[in-house]
Amino acid sequence: MDQRPIGVFDSGSGGLTAVREIRSILPSENIIYFGDTSRVPYGSRSAEILLHFAKQDVRFLRTFDIKALVVACNTATSAAIHDLREAYPDTIVIGIEPALKLAYDRYHGGGIGVMATPMTLREEKFEALMHRYDQSCRIYKIPAPGLVELVERGQADSPEAESLLRELFAPYQGKLDEVVLGCTHYPFAAKAISRVLGSGVALLDGGDGTARETRRRLAEAGLLENGTGEVILTNSLPDESILELSRKLLDEK
Ligand code: DGL
Repeated sequence: MDQRPIGVFDSGSGGLTAVREIRSILPSENIIYFGDTSRVPYGSRSAEILLHFAKQDVRFLRTFDIKALVVACNTATSAAIHDLREAYPDTIVIGIEPALKLAYDRYHGGGIGVMATPMTLREEKFEALMHRYDQSCRIYKIPAPGLVELVERGQADSPEAESLLRELFAPYQGKLDEVVLGCTHYPFAAKAISRVLGSGVALLDGGDGTARETRRRLAEAGLLENGTGEVILTNSLPDESILELSRKLLDEK
């Protein structure tokens, strides 16, 4: 038994989609979450800046004596995961990634769209992942500027989100069989995305895989906890309304 918390961070509220999955398969674990809402979005920034932000975020989480770190931000994983693993060789470090393998394993023809931030889609890490599968299926990179901001305003399921998504997906009519939600903010917009794409297009994300990997690594290291599980939410914005939104998003079904 190890009561120390798992530290989780994202550029804002998006990483809470991963926390939901971690909580659902590891309900006994304590979690400390940091949302860097004062600097959201991460997706339009340079790799250098993101590395700097990620290191700061982790330094903050480490003040809570964390036993594992989950980078619940695809963008920060692309920019910083290698450096974080190198900087903290004694800590379990897990990074969420677009669930392209999962989409490929279920591929039935058509095409796979990968929605993610511009930063994730242009980084080498994603290119390498994509080239593992793009010989045998059609993969479309779909950046979705503006969607993260709508989630942060609590408008993931709003008419604004729907109209942004209609425009975004217009060029892909009839071309998509599955869509990977490669940014942790996007599962909050899943209802609007499904309304636009239709129920025949499967939506997949990396939250469950990340939670399973967290469980596997903790079990392997003998660090699983058997307690009641507490989630502490923290944010770089000193504003109670952001924590309120985070709690609401975390409990949303
Ligand atoms: N939620 C983040 C991700 O998974 C990034 C969103 C952003 O700040 O641009 O990529």
